[in-house]
Amino acid sequence: MSTLAKLGSALLFSLCAAGAYGQPAQPTLTVMAGPIANRITAAELLSRPDLASIQIPPGVDYDVQLTVQAVPLLDLLVALSLEGYDRLEATATDGFVAQIPLALIEAGKNGGSVAWVAVEDPAHPWPKMREKDASAGPFYLVWQYPERSRVANEQWPYMLEKLTAVQSPELRWPQLKVNETLPADAPAKLGETVFATQCLPCHRLNGGGGSGIGPDLGRPMATRLGARSEIGKNLATAANAGVFPEDTAGRRARSLDRLPEADRKPARPMKIR
Ligand code: HEC
Repeated sequence: MSTLAKLGSALLFSLCAAGAYGQPAQPTLTVMAGPIANRITAAELLSRPDLASIQIPPGVDYDVQLTVQAVPLLDLLVALSLEGYDRLEATATDGFVAQIPLALIEAGKNGGSVAWVAVEDPAHPWPKMREKDASAGPFYLVWQYPERSRVANEQWPYMLEKLTAVQSPELRWPQLKVNETLPADAPAKLGETVFATQCLPCHRLNGGGGSGIGPDLGRPMATRLGARSEIGKNLATAANAGVFPEDTAGRRARSLDRLPEADRKPARPMKIR
């Protein structure tokens, strides 16, 4: 047999092994820091000794209480060296990219909210999320006692596929930084934090950020509603400055379903994600 034919039959064999005889591809969660990337299948997670059954009260993505099998997030991070990183970037298959402070996750050891990676068992799929046509699986980052550390709804990424230790968004994308000479309690500083937690998972600002779900708020697009680009520009500035002007409250409402209860204003909620 020529080398090419050998290669061909080897390829054909592996295709058959994967397709006809094998199982469909297993959902896999990648957990990485620097050069280390652990790829863990749902089956592997579901057979871990630290797997626990936890209850998620209705609220964030479901209207019903959900009982899930979950692994403590901190247990998945112990194998990694987190030196030099201060965020865990959670990437979802729909393009949502949350930047979760490692300090928030670590606070779970000391009386703070406790983060878990819930794993959907393909044999017992979860119900569909509120107003969505899919469940939160295959992996869903959930929190026990979310009120303890005021975990935002944007910090519950569903359809999770990857967790990556990264530096803070302001270091990775300097264009997100507000004036550094401002005092720590300046409204703009708060805005910087709010933006990174609640808007960056879906929006970039002047190219900074990792998501493409919503438009870049520093470069408002020309849309069917001409005025929207102006609103976008104003709100991007407002978000960056830590103030949400009254007249843009309607725009802000589009992500209200993922805002913490305390931050919600009575406005028409618009569901995007
Ligand atoms: C879950 C994803 C998601 C989150 C979180 C989110 N947005 Fe959006 N946003 C979108 C999407 C998608 C659009 C585009 C909607 C459309 O085209 O109809 C949008 C549109 C906008 C627009 C209009 C932009 C334009 O040029 O038309 C503004 C302004 C905006 N968002 C601000 C914010 C702010 C401020 C936050 C944080 C407080 C935020 N968004 C959080 C998904 C999100």
